[in-house]
Amino acid sequence: MKYVIGIDVGTSGTKTVLFDEKGAVIASATIEYPMSQPQNGWAEQDPADWWNASAKTVKAVIEKSGVDASLIAGVGISGQMHGLVMLDGDGAVLRPSIIWCDQRTAEECADIERLIGGREELIRITANPALTGFTASKIMWVKKHEPEIYEKCRHILLPKDYIRYMLTGVYATEVSDASGMQLLDVPGRCWSDELLAALGIEKSLLAEVYESPEITGLVNDEAAALTGLKPGTPVVGGAGDNAAAAVGMGVVEDGLAFTTVGTSGVVFAHTDKITVDPKGRVHTFCCAVPGAWHVMGVTQAAGLSLRWLRDTVCAPECAEAEKQGVDPYKIMDAEAAESPVGANRLLYMPYLMGERTPHLDPNVRGGFVGLSAMHGRGDMIRAVMEGVSYSLKDCQGVLSGMGVDPESMRICGGGGKSPFWRQMLADVYGVPVTRVESDEGPALGVAILAMVGAGIYPTVRDACRAIVRTKETLPFDAERNARYGQFYEVYKSLYPHLKADFDALAAL
Ligand code: XUL
Repeated sequence: MKYVIGIDVGTSGTKTVLFDEKGAVIASATIEYPMSQPQNGWAEQDPADWWNASAKTVKAVIEKSGVDASLIAGVGISGQMHGLVMLDGDGAVLRPSIIWCDQRTAEECADIERLIGGREELIRITANPALTGFTASKIMWVKKHEPEIYEKCRHILLPKDYIRYMLTGVYATEVSDASGMQLLDVPGRCWSDELLAALGIEKSLLAEVYESPEITGLVNDEAAALTGLKPGTPVVGGAGDNAAAAVGMGVVEDGLAFTTVGTSGVVFAHTDKITVDPKGRVHTFCCAVPGAWHVMGVTQAAGLSLRWLRDTVCAPECAEAEKQGVDPYKIMDAEAAESPVGANRLLYMPYLMGERTPHLDPNVRGGFVGLSAMHGRGDMIRAVMEGVSYSLKDCQGVLSGMGVDPESMRICGGGGKSPFWRQMLADVYGVPVTRVESDEGPALGVAILAMVGAGIYPTVRDACRAIVRTKETLPFDAERNARYGQFYEVYKSLYPHLKADFDALAAL
């Protein structure tokens, strides 16, 4: 029996899982770390925290499992997309990473579209409009505001690619994550010389681009000593967290889609042929299946909304959870279930970190609308879950307008573990929601890519067919679907009504 390791460098923590070649979990370890918000709308993390968590969790899973490291055939790395890691010529980190949910770069987005000759031209090359979440505008921000740092920069990496560098000493990336840098020719799956020239970014700063299952480097002696891996263990390209989760859930062919409710929320559909929303409301990226793409809509603050409510409002639920020895979200779910569909006419806008799909607006912020003195915390919890679900329905609607209309939705991420939220999503979407047997999403996805890189399976699709199994499917309830639909109509009208007020607030 051979084994592989999947590392997922997430926003709230890094999770590492050791799998056998059939995809069974042998050992798992997670280490959490903070996100700093130096200003409203900014978000940064320390790459040293990611590496510390990655090295320690790899060591922990090898030790826990008792598996001989020489039987580990490969390592796959996944992680939060878009984050900017800048290194000097010696590979030392130059500044904290500006991560995916940071919203400081509205001006640089306008600059990018102007420099390349308009939004349409940018969409032709990168398949997407300029977005504050993407890496290119973060690079332009550092160039403008911290020229002394940019001057010293010799290598630009994404979060998971920094972990690859620490494991192997190699500067490499792969197509799925590189798509989210907004410097890749997404139809051609290579860096765009034209765009790099227009933005004045040296190609030598960027890493070599691979397809996701390709071997990119081998674990070096220093990393082996820290992690317990064997020197020479292959590290494959891996994938951005969403493309990785797709592989882990078997969403690797046309007609299949999934929703993830993690810190962010994503509605993701596989497409063998490239397809682009001309308004750029959903992203088109290369996927981890060589030669294929995916489209996905993003809700910036999905699980983040509920975590925010837990930490600011739900102290009594947290105390009760501690008493019962259970997860606070379990108590919060039960309270939300006491409130009816529509949360007693309370709506929540989940725009805590601005919004991507469908508004593409860094200035918008969250809010409760319709608060009454009769509302309790149960209504607020339910309203937050419903607001996030409506935002994901917005994503589903844009995909549907592009002719991508899956008949069911697979589900993963922390929010997907709640039976109450899963049923809510089925009812809000009006399609059945299916779970897969493994909850490991991105970690399993990149482990599967490592199996393909190591030659255990010939292709990603073959590996998924052998490994990924679906389990429970929840049908939607037509009556609740109709009732949610009435609230969704009001929810949809809130943003256009309030947009000017959010802009005014941002300008104060
Ligand atoms: C996708 C995105 C997020 C991060 C979070 O475009 O920004 O899903 O990858 O992990």
